[in-house]
Amino acid sequence: MKNNNEIIHEKFESIIQSDWLSIDMTAGNGRDTYFLAQKSKHVFTIDIQEVAINKTKELTKDFDNITYIHDDHQNINNYVKPYVNLIIYNLGYLPGGNKKIKTTKDSTLISLSKAHQLLKINSYLIITCYPGHPGGSQETEAVKLWINHKKEKQQYEVETLHYPTKNSPISFICKRIAM
Ligand SMILES: C[S@@+](CC[C@H](N)C(=O)[O-])C[C@H]1O[C@@H](n2cnc3c(N)ncnc32)[C@H](O)[C@@H]1O
Repeated sequence: MKNNNEIIHEKFESIIQSDWLSIDMTAGNGRDTYFLAQKSKHVFTIDIQEVAINKTKELTKDFDNITYIHDDHQNINNYVKPYVNLIIYNLGYLPGGNKKIKTTKDSTLISLSKAHQLLKINSYLIITCYPGHPGGSQETEAVKLWINHKKEKQQYEVETLHYPTKNSPISFICKRIAM
């Protein structure tokens, strides 16, 4: 059975175009950034932890189309101007790192509002949430509410990837259809 990352990377592959600008809002160990760098024109990748940015730099050292940003993704608008084609979030904590440093409901919601301002029509916002860790289910519910609100305003079409159990990751593939 494919894992969540493989399913999401297949999804990226089916939509991404070589002239796209993309943002990885949670660089982590750099695997998503690596994938985006292979497939798109330029990638901005941000993480609140220097160790994550260093791991991402190491993994992607052969690419010259990446801007690395060590900051909170609530500040993404200080580094990237509208518009981009794809923004991804892989929420939670750094695998193999400090589990106390993780995305939170509040910081994620502020960051999502910044991301929304950077997205143009026919662009994508892809968010993977992890309800299984402490604070994760509240964050997942907050993200769902945020997405539902945008959907009601007919700004996004949304596909949800469900996984087998209550604590499995859940991914939202949101296509912007109106400003
Ligand atoms: C699940 S990991 C990301 C995995 C990564 N995309 C990969 O492919 O390896 C989540 C990352 O979010 C980062 N993070 C947590 N809060 C953040 C924030 N407010 N702004 C930016 N990054 C944050 C953590 O430091 C951690 O590296």
